[in-house]
Amino acid sequence: MSDQIRVTQLFDCADVGKTIVTAAVSQGKPWKIIQGPWTRGGTKAAYYRFRLEQAAAYPRTQLWHVNMGGRAKWARGVFSRPYALTLHGTDIRENYWQDQHHAMMKGDIDGAGHVWYMTPDLREKAESVRADAQYLPIPVNPEELPAWNRASKPRVFFPSRWDASKGGDALLQTAAEVVSAVAGRGVDVSGIDLSTAMVEQLRAKPGGDAVPVVIGDMTTTRVDGDFDLVYLVFNTIGNLTEQDDQVACFGNAAAHLRPGGAFVIETGVPGARSLAPTESFRVFHHGDAHVGIDEYDPATQRMFSHHYLRQADGSYLRRSLPFRYTWPAELDLMARLAGLRLRERWADWSRTPFTATSDAHVSVWEKPAADAA
Ligand SMILES: C[S@@+](CC[C@H](N)C(=O)[O-])C[C@H]1O[C@@H](n2cnc3c(N)ncnc32)[C@H](O)[C@@H]1O
Repeated sequence: MSDQIRVTQLFDCADVGKTIVTAAVSQGKPWKIIQGPWTRGGTKAAYYRFRLEQAAAYPRTQLWHVNMGGRAKWARGVFSRPYALTLHGTDIRENYWQDQHHAMMKGDIDGAGHVWYMTPDLREKAESVRADAQYLPIPVNPEELPAWNRASKPRVFFPSRWDASKGGDALLQTAAEVVSAVAGRGVDVSGIDLSTAMVEQLRAKPGGDAVPVVIGDMTTTRVDGDFDLVYLVFNTIGNLTEQDDQVACFGNAAAHLRPGGAFVIETGVPGARSLAPTESFRVFHHGDAHVGIDEYDPATQRMFSHHYLRQADGSYLRRSLPFRYTWPAELDLMARLAGLRLRERWADWSRTPFTATSDAHVSVWEKPAADAA
């Protein structure tokens, strides 16, 4: 488009106009965005008044850019000028082919001086309604993309809106395939567990065969290799019932990490804080089939989770699991003893901020990079 032609765009569906004007300004062109009353829910009268003001202010407008099928009527009548038309995905995927919209869409397309379409996979359809239709790529400004945060799982970002009419299911399927391709690529996972019975549980899960597991103690067992990530989830740090063992576990995790690598723990914030000083028992679940009671000893930070499980004959079987509970600050100190430092602490895997009322945390400690150590 030459600098010499005065173009005014009508409608800004999907920010097309904003994107084009931003790109033009960055190339030094004197383009600008004028906000019309319709974006603020304005009336038809306000709209016509605005158009008259624009016609007076920009008498040399020579071309309308109608940015959406079915809207070229605004470029006719007293404001009649040649117009170029941009067809959005839904215009050409659906509306053109529907009885109630077809005549208007066809009128707009036939009357346009030029037609662009924005969705590359709709090329065949666009060209079938207008042989000279051209694909108009819309530049994406990377600075406007959402910040890329490290996540516990691979994530895919699609700069597009999803819904059924835009083939949302197919996009979702593609995303799932990309995620699984990325997830499986070059990531070596190894495990340590004390219990062969638990490893059998792992083997029974999809893909569970693929993970090499060493039967051993996580306070001392060393797996071959250096790792970017060591993680210990589901309150497992509390399975070590002595402080020395928990400290040793941090040391062992750090020994497995490359400089810059991270140790991640997910565990609860002790429920002990909700107990009155003279109380030691806290019911954490009460149902017909199961009653769960935690028993705390603040002197040793030992605790038991007592599970009462209802049997077929109506009696309850008690199973009591021993733990050592820790506050986040004590874990930070253990990390420090192991040469690690806190990088992040969240209340859960969705990065909910950790606050005074959080009842669990996901904490990330890192091994300093070699040059920072
Ligand atoms: C709460 S379960 C976690 C189960 C499973 N890894 C998960 O993430 O869902 C704790 C696991 O830690 C294992 N474990 C407990 N003490 C351990 C130790 N000292 N060394 C290695 N594994 C231990 C248990 O056998 C059990 O499989």
